[in-house]
Amino acid sequence: MAKSSRKKGRPEPAAQPATPKPAVSAAPKPPVSAVEMGARQREISVSEFFTKNRHLLGFDNPRKALLTCVKEAVDNALDACEEAGILPDVVVKLEVAANGGPPPPASQASRFRITVTDNGPGIVRQQIPPIFAKLLYGSKFHRLRMSRGQQGIGISAAGMYGQLTTGKPVQIISRTGARSPAHFFEVQIDTKKNEPLILEKKQIEWEAPRGTQVTIEVEGRYQKGRASVDEYLEQTIIANPHVKLTYLTPEGETKVLPRTYDQVPESPREIKPHPYGIELGMLLKMLQDTKSHWLSGFLAGDFSRVSPHLAEEICKTAGLSPRARPRDVLGQTAENLYKTIQSTKIMAPPTNCLSPIGEQAILSGLYQQIKGEFYTAVSRPPAVYRGNPFVIEAGLAYGRGPEQAQEDQQKQAVPLAEGEEADGNEHELARVIRYANRVPLLYQQSACAIFKAVLDTTWRNYGVTQSRGALPAGPMVIFVHMASVWVPFTSESKEAIAEYDEIHKEITLALRECGRRLGAFLRRRERAYSEQSRRDIFALYIEEVVESCNRLKGGRLPVAKLKEQLHKMALKRTGGEKTDQVLGKNGSGPEGLPHSIIVTPDGVEGEVPKIIAEPSTTVAANGNGHPAADDKGAEAAKGAESAKAAPRTEAKARGHGKARREHAGRVAQGRKTDRRPRCAHPTARSKARARRGKG
Ligand SMILES: Nc1ncnc2c1ncn2[C@@H]1O[C@H](COP(=O)(O)OP(=O)(O)OP(=O)(O)O)[C@@H](O)[C@H]1O
Ligand SMILES: [Mg+2]
Repeated sequence: MAKSSRKKGRPEPAAQPATPKPAVSAAPKPPVSAVEMGARQREISVSEFFTKNRHLLGFDNPRKALLTCVKEAVDNALDACEEAGILPDVVVKLEVAANGGPPPPASQASRFRITVTDNGPGIVRQQIPPIFAKLLYGSKFHRLRMSRGQQGIGISAAGMYGQLTTGKPVQIISRTGARSPAHFFEVQIDTKKNEPLILEKKQIEWEAPRGTQVTIEVEGRYQKGRASVDEYLEQTIIANPHVKLTYLTPEGETKVLPRTYDQVPESPREIKPHPYGIELGMLLKMLQDTKSHWLSGFLAGDFSRVSPHLAEEICKTAGLSPRARPRDVLGQTAENLYKTIQSTKIMAPPTNCLSPIGEQAILSGLYQQIKGEFYTAVSRPPAVYRGNPFVIEAGLAYGRGPEQAQEDQQKQAVPLAEGEEADGNEHELARVIRYANRVPLLYQQSACAIFKAVLDTTWRNYGVTQSRGALPAGPMVIFVHMASVWVPFTSESKEAIAEYDEIHKEITLALRECGRRLGAFLRRRERAYSEQSRRDIFALYIEEVVESCNRLKGGRLPVAKLKEQLHKMALKRTGGEKTDQVLGKNGSGPEGLPHSIIVTPDGVEGEVPKIIAEPSTTVAANGNGHPAADDKGAEAAKGAESAKAAPRTEAKARGHGKARREHAGRVAQGRKTDRRPRCAHPTARSKARARRGKG
């Protein structure tokens, strides 16, 4: 202020004597004494903490809260079924709850009743109250074994959110077997103590022979689309094709997402911590808690991959006696032991604690749920981060389905001008679907290691367009799954995976393999289309050439034989059987592309999954109508066979027209063809090749 007034040449005002603030000097606020401060200190219960910070658990807005509640209940149901070796059959029911007065339509409702029923092992009576009304209580936190839940917060937090927003308790019915009675409970959390309050408990009649049913009433908002309950259930089925999900929507629809894989995933084993994964503090605690009397026994017994021989060696290198009492190893001695462990070569942890989805099941899930022309799946070998074993799996579904691809090609009848870019799917960005221990992650995409690895992959190398720092463009769904005994989530709401170098590297390697296969498919298909179009042109002229020759010879030529010979020649000159194979015309698999499926208008090739016949009367909610590899599939294939005949005849009929011949002439001379696949995102080189008419 003073500076600007000087600039304008105004005289500076005389400095005002500073007047002391009477309030401050007259009555200074007495400082708080340590005693008073001490009196204010109070313990904070975990429930009080999470009531205030419910956003940390995924309850920040009503839409997300509804999803989180469904997710926690479904994840628990699937975990319980798999642990008990039962093929999960889960029913999710969303109802609009009337808040005094008639219930509003689902889109305007603000209160919902969520009921999730499973056919799992059930829960013993005494455990029901703490499981559903005590935070940080569960069976999965202390073990090293892959499961969807890990923290022991999920379902009790959902119940607490319901209690907070609607005041209603959680209702549970559970039965452990046909001969045991079903128990009904109504519980709430005492947030001050983080202890369950039982409002009601009784034995009831329940039609299910075994399983658990949870009902929670919550404030929420139901809206379809991205990150909705519907999307979560659909994505769950992709990574869990062994699950049958029945979804009763708040709009009164019944959707059945059928089981497409009939094997319960192999039950993962529980493992001990690997020495490389522990920190010094943890080692100190383990030394105090161990039941072993000797140090070498502790090392061999409490860690994985440490044999008694290796344990003795570690003790010797650290300058400690193998017979030392573990509890006496403290301070600098413990630190020496820790350093020795970290510098000793120890085998990577066992991986039977993991249950990856597997290439077959990923293919099955993608193929059933997403329309496309090319599918592939990759399971990486196990790797380790901070001593925790993990496996990365990736999958890819490319294209919009063969019907759409055909339409797209037909649309291209008008060739593009020089320099003109094909529009449409060039601008559509790929969709990334992320999973951790088979659970879809729907929020915080950009904070997730998976998303970052997709961005860091150079998709241009595989014939897909990609702007700098963006997702690849095109009709493509990228699937990535991390299976681990401990998934490093960035927060308690389990929405994004933290970016450890080892994890990033593994995701990148899996994506590159998928990309390589996609690139091979696109290149081959482009080449095959071009050869096919040349073959069609030859075929067009064969009729005329044969007729003319016959006329010249006075009608004495063996017409049929000549025609056959010319057709053979055309076949040979246009890639032969290979072209048919790539275009899916001769029934052989996609050679050189392991764990892949190719869908063409003429059929499906590769590792086509079997559909399990479900005795269901309801139509599958989201099946994409692809044929399968079983009897039903054979019928579908037959259908495809007859359908195949029709377009070909039609094409032939079209082929005799003038426009067709003119176009054919253009192609034969090597100019732009209308057969170029629209989805192929050809690179500049392949575009030029297509223009020259070479394959
Ligand atoms: N439907 C169910 N059937 C059988 N057991 C269940 C069921 N739901 C929950 N449980 C048991 O209750 C425990 C607590 O569940 P909760 O969802 O609170 O935690 P979690 O699944 O262990 O971990 P997270 O907080 O990561 O979900 C589980 O560990 C499981 O043992
Ligand atoms: Mg859980």
